[in-house]
Amino acid sequence: MATQRTASGGPSGDSGAKLPDPVPDRLPFARAASVIAVIVLAGALFGYDQGVISGALVGVQKAFAVGAAALEIVTSWVTLGAMFGSLGGGFVADHFGRKRALFAAAGLFIIGAAVEALAPNVPVLVFGRLVAGFGVGVAAVAAPLYAAELAPAAQRGRFVSSYQLAITIGIFVAYLVDEALAGPEGWRAMFAVSAVAGVLLALAVLTAVESPRWLVKTGRPDDARRNLVALGAENDADARLAAIKAALRAEHETASWSDVFAPRWRTPLKIGLGLAVLQQITGINAIIYYSDNIFAAAGFTTPAAQTAATTWAIGAVNVLATFIAIAFIDRLGRRPLLIAGLIGMGLSLAAVGLAFQQSGGAGGTTGVITLIALVVFIISFAFSLGPVTWTVINEIYPGEVRGRAVAVATAVNWGAAFLVSEFFLTVVNAIGQAYTFWLFAAFCALGLIWVYVGVPETRRRSLEEIQASWGEASRRS
Ligand code: BGC
Repeated sequence: MATQRTASGGPSGDSGAKLPDPVPDRLPFARAASVIAVIVLAGALFGYDQGVISGALVGVQKAFAVGAAALEIVTSWVTLGAMFGSLGGGFVADHFGRKRALFAAAGLFIIGAAVEALAPNVPVLVFGRLVAGFGVGVAAVAAPLYAAELAPAAQRGRFVSSYQLAITIGIFVAYLVDEALAGPEGWRAMFAVSAVAGVLLALAVLTAVESPRWLVKTGRPDDARRNLVALGAENDADARLAAIKAALRAEHETASWSDVFAPRWRTPLKIGLGLAVLQQITGINAIIYYSDNIFAAAGFTTPAAQTAATTWAIGAVNVLATFIAIAFIDRLGRRPLLIAGLIGMGLSLAAVGLAFQQSGGAGGTTGVITLIALVVFIISFAFSLGPVTWTVINEIYPGEVRGRAVAVATAVNWGAAFLVSEFFLTVVNAIGQAYTFWLFAAFCALGLIWVYVGVPETRRRSLEEIQASWGEASRRS
């Protein structure tokens, strides 16, 4: 307890003083650009791997003459790889640094993409998917963590949302590449494209500075000071360094995995895991992966019409609506976006359910209503649960366990994504389209209540201030 009082007391320990933000308000242009390049390339690779499979499957099926079960494995093992990769990524990011973790992720992407593109049979292809997925998981932990630690407090939401923007661009580009390369052997090139992005990520990481917060944590204050100066803190690097040290002094010497689950961090743990699960059980990836099927069931008869609806109504809209979050996440805050988004998502999912129930799943009106409702759903997700989940997960945990706690929340997010994408079609077969969408809508309603009651606003507070507030919360209770 005493240690946490120090955390809320500022760098010199005077109780009540506000902690200065370790990162300067304005980063030099070249520094900001290299941080953003790392985040954007890591996110784009994540998104590309999510999106590419829908177009590659047809070619894979023809090339190896395999059935549905093998195709399901080719699809879903990337998610499994990502789940384990995020746990490994937390360890690597905490022990070896944020930059090295991102470099390793780039290497895994490149190896995975090469194995996938050259695979002589399905087991090798699945191995490639697993390796690429592992890279996705490592990057999914290290990139937003790096973004949150390198961002000035007043722009942190925007920095981490650029990561989400990049994911959506990756998905959209994958849809376009899939369309452009459609053909018997096109699937190999579709996978190979992500190796190029992996190389660009590795180059961007080489030009970026390591997180000063991580350097202090691992006993390298001189390096941290040098990087603070590089980030624009020429005049007050010592004060900012002191702010990081003060927050770390308030922590245990060495954190273990069990510290992630320690009672004093229970509140941020619940918030991070809650958002990670909520983001997935409200249906986003069921729609991203199976939108062709949904549009087919809603009356879009030709494959060309289904693909066009998916590319533009889902892929492009997802990208554009993420700009709403970038514009407002630091101005309005995380909570208003989450609340508005969950309302929009819930209502649009309920409308899709209603359309399916009334028409029995066919006919023109269902198609139009489904199209409009899914566009509203994607917009609502893209400005709320998409970016806000990653932002909040990366800002609520104390420095001592940040890497590992982010890893746990990210792995849980991937686990939930795996379950939803794995069982979506099974649930549809069991209870029908209408009830499946209503189930997603019900999760939105429950999530809305939970967010309203249990998720605090973190806008414009430094990571150290947020950390100190958990100490205050546990002292009050
Ligand atoms: C989610 C992914 C999802 C993507 C869609 C991300 O925030 O974590 O699972 O596919 O958003 O844009």
